[in-house]
Amino acid sequence: MSRIWLSPPHVGPRERELLLDAFDSNWIAPLGPHVDAFEREMAVRTGMPHAAALSSGTAGLHLALLLLGVGVGDLVITATLTFAATANAITYVGAVPVFVDAEPATWTMDPDLLDEALTTLEREGRPAKAVIAVDLYGQVCDPRIETICEAHGVPLVEDAAEALGSVRAGRPAGSFGAMAVLSFNGNKIITTAGGGMLLARDAEHVKRARYLATQARDPAPHYQHSVVGYNYRMSNLLAAVGRGQLEALDDRIAARRATRDTYVRTLGTLPGWSFLEDPADATTNAWLSCAVIDPAEAGVDREAVRLHLEADQIEARPVWKPMHQQPVFDGCRTFGGDVSDRLFRDGLCLPSGSSLTDADRDRIVARVRTTPRGGA
Ligand SMILES: Cc1ncc(COP(=O)(O)O)c(C=O)c1O
Repeated sequence: MSRIWLSPPHVGPRERELLLDAFDSNWIAPLGPHVDAFEREMAVRTGMPHAAALSSGTAGLHLALLLLGVGVGDLVITATLTFAATANAITYVGAVPVFVDAEPATWTMDPDLLDEALTTLEREGRPAKAVIAVDLYGQVCDPRIETICEAHGVPLVEDAAEALGSVRAGRPAGSFGAMAVLSFNGNKIITTAGGGMLLARDAEHVKRARYLATQARDPAPHYQHSVVGYNYRMSNLLAAVGRGQLEALDDRIAARRATRDTYVRTLGTLPGWSFLEDPADATTNAWLSCAVIDPAEAGVDREAVRLHLEADQIEARPVWKPMHQQPVFDGCRTFGGDVSDRLFRDGLCLPSGSSLTDADRDRIVARVRTTPRGGA
């Protein structure tokens, strides 16, 4: 049996054609016409006016915090239920993460708890310097988060790494806050092998991001630097792949949504099983199909299901381990935490790649159904 991966890359002839175009034109440096076009196309797609293509989403988060003037000892509020990159970027600038729990419907940051966190930190005389909301598994953060941040006068960055193509309340993922970040890592809905994008409302932010991302070279014929810079730009070769992927984005979303629909229809009716689904005001990219398995009702726990799938060469993964449970962030302040703790304990991400066939889906569903009760 061939292995079924959680979320593998899915490329086609168009990506190959554009990649060879970039190669043959000799624009293989981290600048060139495909980089420029990819930035323009992504700005149009997300509704953010300005975009800078970067070497990773993590680089985008790092730059966003630098551009907001976040520095040593500052507090930055973010979701506890996320991939480590979000919280890591906070530490790159010497700031300290403060974690906020998820809300149960979309698993994204709970707006009421965010308000409480902002208010508490203000009252204590150490207000947050920024907020990073995370669009988890393709869900889009609650638009109220933007209003709450505005009311507190704290800038918002949207970590939309997992949510390209999702829409909530009529607004695309990547269009919230002062800046937003996308990832084109190999497991994302579209990929450039590795890469990311910083989206910004303010042209100055993107201008400065490009400067910092190219080693902060001052405009002089010799190499002159007034501040510390980074090597964070995207290669024109990879941007060409990204453009081909972007053309296919709507197909990729449709495929992932169909997979989630299949799981909901075939597994969502099992006792103790529920799935992360779209709230009424959203159409998401269904990046990963995620189930929550209540062991008391289901008679199996998520680890039993995962191991049973793994024994048949099917990759499934636990939901992100919350940041407040991570040894590296031990001791960081957390508002709430029970929702994420439960999602981590009982949550399972099932194979969700856009290249899954009907036969693959049947194989996965059949295998899940034969998980021995009480263990793998
Ligand atoms: C929520 C989240 N934020 C940030 C990142 C970082 O993106 P990258 O891998 O492109 O650095 C990822 C994924 O990798 C992610 O899932």
